[in-house]
Amino acid sequence: MFRIPSCAIDAPAKVNLTLEILGTRPDGYHAIRTIIVPTTLHDSLEIRALPASAASSDAIEVVADGVAIDRVGPAEDNLCLRAVRLLRERIGFRERVAIRLVKRIPIGGGLGGGSSDGAATLAGVHWMLGSPLPREELFEFAARLGSDVPALLHGGAVLCEGRGEILTPVDAAHGFAPMPPAHLVLANPGIHVSTPAAFRAAKGELTSPAISGTILHSPPSHDGFLSADVKLFNGLEGPVFALHPEVGHLARLMEEAGAGTVLMSGSGASVFALAASEKDAARIRQAIPATIWRMVTRTVPDGVMAAHGPLEP
Ligand code: C5P
Repeated sequence: MFRIPSCAIDAPAKVNLTLEILGTRPDGYHAIRTIIVPTTLHDSLEIRALPASAASSDAIEVVADGVAIDRVGPAEDNLCLRAVRLLRERIGFRERVAIRLVKRIPIGGGLGGGSSDGAATLAGVHWMLGSPLPREELFEFAARLGSDVPALLHGGAVLCEGRGEILTPVDAAHGFAPMPPAHLVLANPGIHVSTPAAFRAAKGELTSPAISGTILHSPPSHDGFLSADVKLFNGLEGPVFALHPEVGHLARLMEEAGAGTVLMSGSGASVFALAASEKDAARIRQAIPATIWRMVTRTVPDGVMAAHGPLEP
């Protein structure tokens, strides 16, 4: 069934450059509009198809590389194993799948690590199977795994609407000005903010049309995404800062270090600063106490998620 027995694939962290809350939906989700862009920070996966065995099933081994992994949840909730299950139910392969996941993205921090790991597993296992499914079906599976997963499976900068699964690539073909890679400082205060709690804390407060009007979301629009007249905005930021003042303090620390644009990513608690140069990024990073996880990285506005294999035995 497997054409390629194993592969390596990277799962990038993302930041939300914008996040508007547009309304509530009958399914309990919120209608949102968000621009997601991947970064050079990534988890790494090695995926292997092994002979079917009565004694063991799909498995994931998580290895920490610079982040705490005590928040890794139970296997049944793991998005990588759920991705394997979706593909097995659809395609019917018998082999079991073993994943080695090297974690560098803080867990549960609004940087999309778990979502990206799930997207990478879908992409990697599907590629090992010879890519039998139509692209739309793979994206449907991605949406079932989580609202951020389709954007991460797509790669590059994407405008996400609906509950996050309706994608428009932010590129010239879709009427957007080209988005150059940007220097980025990421910081995570180590607080866990659950995404449902963040949306609940927003208490139905919708992003005002005045703010929406300053955000790039419909092509063709402003002359450049990072130009001064385009506002970066996150509708979950105020509510999360109110719930967890430490997150707001961290954002202020980065502003005081000279960062022009500082924003919370997703539902937090990670915060990022856009920096004009690598030197500026290093200076902002330096201003954050070493007790806080922080990292200089870059956005990857035009990346794709690609598997490589097979691996050495
Ligand atoms: O889709 P995902 O599993 O990542 O969403 C986690 C939770 O975040 C949802 O159960 C919901 O409470 C909230 N959410 C939302 N609206 C969205 C995305 C997520 O209310 N568009």
